[in-house]
Parts: sequence; C-alpha cells; structure tokens
Amino acid sequence: MRVVHNAPLAPLTTLRLGGSATRLVTVERERDAVDAVREEDERGEALLVLGGGSNLVISDAGFAGTVVRMATRGLARSSERAGRVHVTAEAGEPWDDFVTAAVEEGLSGVECLAGIPGLVGAVPMQNVGAYGQDVGETIVTVRAYDRARREIVELPREACAFAYRSSAFRGKDRHVILSVTFALEKRAESGPIRYAELSRALAVAEGARAPLEAVRSTVVALRRKKGMVLDPADPDTTSAGSFFTNPIVSASDLESVRALARDEGPMPVFPELDGRFKLSAGWLIERAGFAKGFAGEGGRAAVSSKHALALTNRGGATTRELVALARRIRDGVRARFGVTLENEPVFVGERL
Ligand code: EPU
Repeated sequence: MRVVHNAPLAPLTTLRLGGSATRLVTVERERDAVDAVREEDERGEALLVLGGGSNLVISDAGFAGTVVRMATRGLARSSERAGRVHVTAEAGEPWDDFVTAAVEEGLSGVECLAGIPGLVGAVPMQNVGAYGQDVGETIVTVRAYDRARREIVELPREACAFAYRSSAFRGKDRHVILSVTFALEKRAESGPIRYAELSRALAVAEGARAPLEAVRSTVVALRRKKGMVLDPADPDTTSAGSFFTNPIVSASDLESVRALARDEGPMPVFPELDGRFKLSAGWLIERAGFAKGFAGEGGRAAVSSKHALALTNRGGATTRELVALARRIRDGVRARFGVTLENEPVFVGERL
C-alpha cells in the first residue's frame, strides 16, 4: 500500500484536470483495497475509488478525502464448459490488455471493445460499450466490497442492472469493484457484427462474423481516427471519451426533433428495443453550431477536432473551463433541438 498526502489528481486522469486529494492510497492486493476502504469508512472520511481516470471529471478544488487507486493485477481462467470459458480479471488490470489477451487466446465476446482506456474494475460502472458490444453481455459476476454490509459479495449479472451506459453501480458509492468474471466463447471469429461502420470497414455484411484479430485491429483503427485511443502525440485524446450520452427519446419526441432538424439532412436514429429511439449526440452538437474544434472561452477547452462528442483539454485548461464549455453545448443543443444532453463521465465535486 503506497500513501501520498496532498496528491495531485490531474496526472491520474486522461483529461489531465482536477485538483489534489488529501490522501492517495495505491493498492496492489485485493486485501489492501478492502482494508483501505474499511478504514476510511470507519473514520467516516470521504472516499473516491480511482481506476484509470479515463471517465472522470474532477473539480479544480480536488477531493477532500481519500482516493483509493486500484492497482491489483491478474487474469485467471476459472472454468470451461460447452465452449464457454470464464475469465476473471482483477479490477486494476488495464481493460485493453484484457481484450488483447482474450483475442490472442481465441476467446470471443469483447473484441469490439478494443482500444478503450481505463481499467477492468470500471467497465461495469457505465456498462462500457462500443461498436455493437457492451460488457453487460459477457459479465457473469462482479466481485465487490459492499460498504453497507461491510463484506465481500459476488453479484450475478442480474443484480448489476446493466442498461445503456448505466448499471446498479453507477452514481452510487456502495460497491467497490474488486474483480469481474466474463463468459467468453471459444471461437476464432467475433460475434455477429452489429455496427454499420464496423461492418463496412471489415467488408463483411452486418450480422456476419469476422476473425477476432481483424475485428480488434479494425476497431482500434476506427477509434484512433476519432481520437478515442490515448496517444500523447494526439491532443484530441486528452479527453474522457464521449462527454455526453446519446439521448434516448420517445416516438413523439422524435417527431418534434425531426421537425426542428428538417433542414439538416438525414438525422441518425437508432431504434431501441423498448420502442424508444437513440439519437446521435455528436450529430446534434455539430448541427447546433459546435463544429469539431470549437473552443470555449480562453481556447484551452475545446471540442475534439476529430469527434464532436469528445471535449478536450488543449493544454493548461481548468475543469471550470471544460464544464463551462459543456454547459454551453448542452444549452445550445437544448435551444436548437429541445433535447437535454447528459454527461457520460462521472463528475467529482462538479455538476453540469
Ligand atoms: N457524428 C457526427 N459528428 C461527429 C461524430 C459523430 O455527426 O463528430 C454522427 C454521425 O452521424 C455518426 C454518428 O454520429 O454516424 C455516430 O457516431 P459514432 O459511430 O462515432 O458513435 P457515437 O454514438 O458518437 C458511441 C459511443 C462511443 C463508442 C462509439 C462506437 C456513447 C456516448 N458513445 O459514440 O463510446 O466508441 O459509439 O460504438 O454511446 C465513450 O463512451 O466514451 C465512447 C467513446
């Protein structure tokens, strides 16, 4: 267990934003993670669990309390039955390493989620998804420390309430995720490709399969073009990925948005299983007047020059500047289309 007092948090986030924490505790063993959390709870101190910092917006004031940084590592196969292999990854394992290992071992189910920054323990939080897959489809259990019951629990998928960018964990501080078990399929090919852009790039029909490694590398290439793969040489990647979730609207709201957008050319609309419709936040943002590269006051926080849904720190920005830009975009989209965008990353000490 490593302890640092008055620790700057900005370097631990992909946005490179946020003040300092009173205390930063880095844990490399599950037992240390549980002990650290238990101790903070007994002292009644504020606690923030930190993974890869890739989906976090921390206020300039920082965090008055203890930050527990998960650095537990390890992957283990636990069982194999009827072509399904259960693989357990510790919370501190880098997510993309896990995806690469699965693909190398001929295990299918997470290949479309390649190139996503962050750690395994964070993926259940917002049910990470991309290119037609989400982790809620393959997670079988989440092992967590339950701060209310003060014990380790194993939560089956049904208890996780996975939905679009949401879960039973999101927005609640009750569970500290320790490890995640995935059921992957032993198969040299991916699951059926369900994302039009990916099927075009792979030159396979939607619904068809493709070799695992081809899918993995194609997804990484697509993400890279959008500035969604961390790269110190690319300032568009100093972001938290998508800054807003794609809004989901009722059939009647869809009609009013369509009417307001009638001069803008074809609007992307994706039907949901429950009869509602998912809209593209990136498309709405651009059509509301925030082009790629649009900079906020001071010019240091700006829309990515590659993807309208990512907000970036161009160097030396403050959280206040970034959030001011986000509010301006939210308000602009609401005024133009009557749709209220919501933040996708987790906010600490800030609100939109
Ligand atoms: N679009 C624009 N302008 C842009 C970007 C996109 O008009 O600058 C429109 C286009 O019509 C495009 C459509 O939006 O066809 C969809 O764009 P994209 O395929 O890039 O997907 P997205 O909906 O913007 C979502 C996820 C991403 C994920 C991609 C690929 C959310 C909030 N975002 O973005 O996830 O990588 O799909 O599956 O659901 C993240 O959550 O951090 C993230 C990067």
